[in-house]
Amino acid sequence: MSLHSNRRVDSVVDLVGDTPLIRLRSVEERAGGGVEIWAKCEFENPGGSVKDRAARQIMLDALADGRLAGKRLIDSTSGNTGVAYSMIGAALGIPVTLVMPANVSIARVNITRAYGTELVFSSEMDGSDGALVMARQMVDADPDRYFYPNQYANPSNPKAHYLGTGAEILRSLGDRLSHFVAGIGTTGTIMGTGRRLKEHSRSIEVVAVEPDDSFHGLEGLKHLGSSLVPPIWQPDGIVDRLLAMGTDQAWEASDSLCRDEGVFVGHSAGANVAGACEVARQAGRGAVVVTVLPDRGDRYFAPMKWERQYVW
Ligand SMILES: Cc1ncc(COP(=O)(O)O)c(C=O)c1O
Repeated sequence: MSLHSNRRVDSVVDLVGDTPLIRLRSVEERAGGGVEIWAKCEFENPGGSVKDRAARQIMLDALADGRLAGKRLIDSTSGNTGVAYSMIGAALGIPVTLVMPANVSIARVNITRAYGTELVFSSEMDGSDGALVMARQMVDADPDRYFYPNQYANPSNPKAHYLGTGAEILRSLGDRLSHFVAGIGTTGTIMGTGRRLKEHSRSIEVVAVEPDDSFHGLEGLKHLGSSLVPPIWQPDGIVDRLLAMGTDQAWEASDSLCRDEGVFVGHSAGANVAGACEVARQAGRGAVVVTVLPDRGDRYFAPMKWERQYVW
């Protein structure tokens, strides 16, 4: 029986983390056999993605040291982090404002609004950078009203993975683990998990997957060469190498996971699994590789219209 089946919790916040590892046998075969490939099911977090971990740590740390006292959290994300802030804000009684470009998908608007989040729309012409600039202007204009967490620079983001993801993987696989592979967005997952794993053993190889081009279709991931480098990205001594991943290869890996394993995940998960497969093939027999499935595939569908009354 799983440990989870008897779990009783006080709040949805306590459901974040402690995600299961799933073995991906079809991927092991593709890597040539004789290896183990495991994936951390981050889509099992209550907000549906890995970002629940960072959002929870960021908000709990800011509550603990007073940065959030009497303030609203404001950020410029419309993706998984926005959902995570909204969910945890609702559970902890912290008001949340998200700035999004006006052309953001109706799904993101509906999900975040359902939690009571205030939405502010920036010009769709200015994209996500325009939303970021607007959020910063709002903070500058009224610093007493807002707490701006800046997940790209906030040490609580990698800390969530140091205390959670990394420690959980070690509890599951301990000294058998040989490689950890994860895609980079804010870089919180790889920095925090990598740091924890390297502390356990320098011989665990940590591989960061990044899109092979600045124009890519891997939501959540960043091409470092053409992006603002996140201040939390401090790879020395933690990340052993970068692996470039094509959008087509990642999308194919997502499709195969769904068909061959019954695991329906987003495209950054496909990138991670394709990366894990390559790393396992290169390492050869005996490799024990862990990667991450950040979110579910249905997050990328256009949703059914969300209204109080349906006509069937
Ligand atoms: C779907 C998805 N995959 C991967 C990532 C990357 O994780 P991190 O920001 O910890 O590097 C994110 C982050 O936003 C994400 O939303």
